[in-house]
Formats: sequence, structure tokens, C-alpha cells
Amino acid sequence: VDILAVASEMHPLVKTGGLADVVGALPAALAPYGVRVTTILPGYPAVLAALPTTRTVARYADLFGAPARVLRATLGETRLLVLDAPLHFQRDGSLYGDPSGREWSDNWQRFAALSSVAADVAGGAIKGYAPDIVHAHDWQAALTLAYVRHGRRPDLPTVATIHNLAFQGRFDADIFPALGLPWSAFATEGVEYYGGVGYLKAGLYYADAITTVSPAYADEILTPTHGMGLDGLLAARRGRLHGILNGIDTVEWDSATDRHVPVHYGPRGLAERRRNRRAVEKRFGIAPGDGPLFAVVSRLTWQKGMDILADEIDDLVAMGGRLAVLGSGDRGIEGAMLDAAARHRGKVGVLTGYDESLSHLVQAGADALLIPSRFEPCGLTQLYALRYGCIPVVAHTGGLGDTVIDANQAALAAGVATGVVHDPGTREALHSGIHRTIALYRERETWATMQRAGMRADFSWRQSAARYAALYHSLLQERTPA
Ligand code: ADP
Ligand code: GLC
Repeated sequence: VDILAVASEMHPLVKTGGLADVVGALPAALAPYGVRVTTILPGYPAVLAALPTTRTVARYADLFGAPARVLRATLGETRLLVLDAPLHFQRDGSLYGDPSGREWSDNWQRFAALSSVAADVAGGAIKGYAPDIVHAHDWQAALTLAYVRHGRRPDLPTVATIHNLAFQGRFDADIFPALGLPWSAFATEGVEYYGGVGYLKAGLYYADAITTVSPAYADEILTPTHGMGLDGLLAARRGRLHGILNGIDTVEWDSATDRHVPVHYGPRGLAERRRNRRAVEKRFGIAPGDGPLFAVVSRLTWQKGMDILADEIDDLVAMGGRLAVLGSGDRGIEGAMLDAAARHRGKVGVLTGYDESLSHLVQAGADALLIPSRFEPCGLTQLYALRYGCIPVVAHTGGLGDTVIDANQAALAAGVATGVVHDPGTREALHSGIHRTIALYRERETWATMQRAGMRADFSWRQSAARYAALYHSLLQERTPA
């Protein structure tokens, strides 16, 4: 089976979040199931810089106002197509906004460009390449499915994956004529969304199958609270909706070999983690202490509940905890975190920015990872934490609840607890989660048992890749006349 994956991010080339990790890991994870993935990405500067040799396989004289070409490249085992459209993608700033943090006003055009080219490729624009299925990730790629359905191979099976329903790609109706879709597509049965154009909505409407990244989130998004305006459409299509839990790259995340970690260790050498903790403390300007070292590796946003945590830091310190924060995002939350660090010198350290290597060290050295999300489609950092013997302290929502087993009496007695799970959305609940964690930390044996239980759990891609492969096969079977 040949899959054309369409996405805006792919680790290790370009990443702002977990989307990149998943898009980056899936091709290798699917290979053992006879699935061959080619991924089409925007030609961001970082992507172009990473490509060894490329071949131009398609050209556009005018793609949304500027010339563009499609490059083909392989990076190790990874098959790539890159949309080199300098006007749209070679910019300073982040992938989605300018250096000051404002979203690019032409994002509708940038990702319509990616999507229309992906659909061209699916339709046969590149000689000798004809994918069996198109798989679009998140809103930036979702419009691909509209272009496919109104293009040259309208029967091509398609999959849309929701990594985060909060980002929908919603634009004014007046962009519609420029998209090059037939007028009939501007409809409820099409791309129209609350009077405007919805890219993710379009993908969810046209897709033969919709997946999201955990079973719990697949249920949650059918409700008004988490459906963010799309719950009606999703409920109508629930028979086509699948929750498939994300896996993690267990080669890249292996505490016995991780090149970003000074002292390697396994489940039987947990005492070694102490030296990594010392390294984390040094990087964050935190003094050694008796209480647990909590950590954050996250976007600092409302979704992640980081405003709640910022309010709770004084209590965390008062209860005997210390805290290392690695993250960036909302300026107000960054400021609140930095203020807390200034109030609690030597107890709280905050590094704003993005540092992949440091994120590995933090997981290998911190005692507990705080993830107080208000909602969380899957979440990957709790999986990295589990694998590294760092106890996740998480809100009970989405994939967090699907992957962390709370240290309640029954789970402790059975030796299966792997973390601390608290209610989402309030400071009181987070407070009691932190309180319980500090108490558990004092019971050395219990704590070590939890660490080992987490490290033994299997969060590799094996099972989930099998589910994606089965889904692809079932879509192909649907198309085969009996
Ligand atoms: P989301 O995609 O919603 O941000 P995930 O938990 O799925 O959340 O994925 C986040 C990814 O980004 C993880 O790989 C995490 O380690 C990484 N990450 C987040 N913030 C930072 C940071 N400041 N520095 C390094 N890595 C980070
Ligand atoms: C999104 C979600 C996160 C998920 C990631 C990868 O960014 O916020 O929960 O783990 O996508 O699927």
C-alpha cells in the first residue's frame, strides 16, 4: 500500500509540537506492515536546508501568486516531497506567524497551496507515482481532501487525522473563489463552516475515515465541551471515527542510549538518575534539595493549563517541591513563570524557548513531570516521562487518562500505578495532585515501583501502527468491487 501523507511538520526536519513527532515516526512504524509512506511537506527553510540531493518533479508557474516546484528527496529511509514555494514558505518567524507572534495573514493561501499540490500529486502529477490513499494531518493539510474529491481521482480513499481540534483553519468566505474549488463545494456538504471556510471542517466532511490520537479524545470530541463547533459533524460521522493512540519513537527515546543524556540507565539502575537530576538542576539554576524536582516540558498555553500551574507555584514550593520549566508560548504565562522563578531563586528555574536536547535531559533527570492540561488529544511528553522513569502528574483528560494509571490504593496494591491523575481545569485539583505526588515521593519503594511499572509499559508504535495499517486496508477493500 502506498500512502501519500500530507503535513506541515515532521520531526526531525521541522517541529512545533507533537504533530511533528507523529508524522516523523509513522513511516518507519508502518513499514513492517507493508505500508509505504511518502510525506509531502512545505519547503520551510529548515526543510530545504536538511535535504541532501533533490530532484524537481513538478513545476508551477503560478501557485497562489508565485512560482513553485515540487522536489523529491529521500532522507535515510524517509521518502519526501517538498513544496518549494519561496513566497509562501521561506520566511523568518515561526511556521505559522511572524517573529512577533502574529499569525501570517495569508495562512489560508499557504496551506491551500500545500493542499492543492498534494491533491495534484495524488491525482498523478508526478510521473510514476500513484498513491493508493491520501492521509492528511490537521487543518494545514485538511483541504487536500476537498481538492482530491473535486480533482482527477475523486474516488481515491482518504484519511484525516485530528491532532488538535482547537486549531481549525477558519477563514472568511471571501477567500473561497481563490481556492479554485467548484462553487458546489461552498456548502454545508463541503468546505463551508459557519458562513466562512473551514479547512479542518472540510477534511472531516470529505474524509473516508477520520482518526484522532487517543480513544478518550475520540469520545470527548463528540461532546459540545470538546467538540469546538465540530461535534455535530463528528457525531454524524462517528461510524467513521477512530481513536488510535499515538506511539513514541523508542529508539530516539531510550534512556540506555540517549545521546542527550549524560548518564545512561535502565529500570534496574534508577539510582543513576540522580546524576542526571544534578545536571538538570545546574541547567535551571536550582539548588539540590530533599523534595522532588518537578518539571514542565510544554507549550506554555491555556490548553496545557500552564496558567493554573503558574498560580500554583508558590504552593508547590511551600510543600517542599522544586520546579524546572522548559517551554514557550503565551507571553503572559511566560512572564508569570519567570516572576515565580524570581520569587523562588534556587527552587524554581525557567528557561523559555525550545530545546529538543534539553527536553531529553529533563525527562531523564526530573522526578515528576507536570501536565495539567485542560484538554489533551494524546500528549507525548507523559509517554516520554513514563519511559524515562519520570513520574507523570497529569489531568484526567484525553490521551493523558488513556496512558497514565493513577496511584490510587488499588493500583498501588496491584503494583500497576504509573503516575498521579487529577481532575482537569482547577487549581485545587492540581494542588492535591502535587500534594499526593510529594507524599508518594517520600515512600521510596512505592515510588521506585511506579517508575519501573512505567518504564516497562509498551508505548511503541507497534500496536497503533497495526491499527493504521488495518484501517488503510479496510478503506481499499471498500473500494474494491465485490
Ligand atoms: P503538543 O503537540 O500539544 O504541544 P505533545 O505532548 O503531543 O503536545 O508534544 C509536544 C512535543 O514538543 C514533545 O515532543 C515535547 O517534548 C516537545 N516540546 C514541547 N515544548 C518543548 C520545548 N520548550 N523544548 C523542547 N521540546 C518541547
Ligand atoms: C497535538 C495535541 C497533542 C498530541 C499531538 C500529536 O499537538 O495537542 O495532544 O499528542 O498533537 O498527535
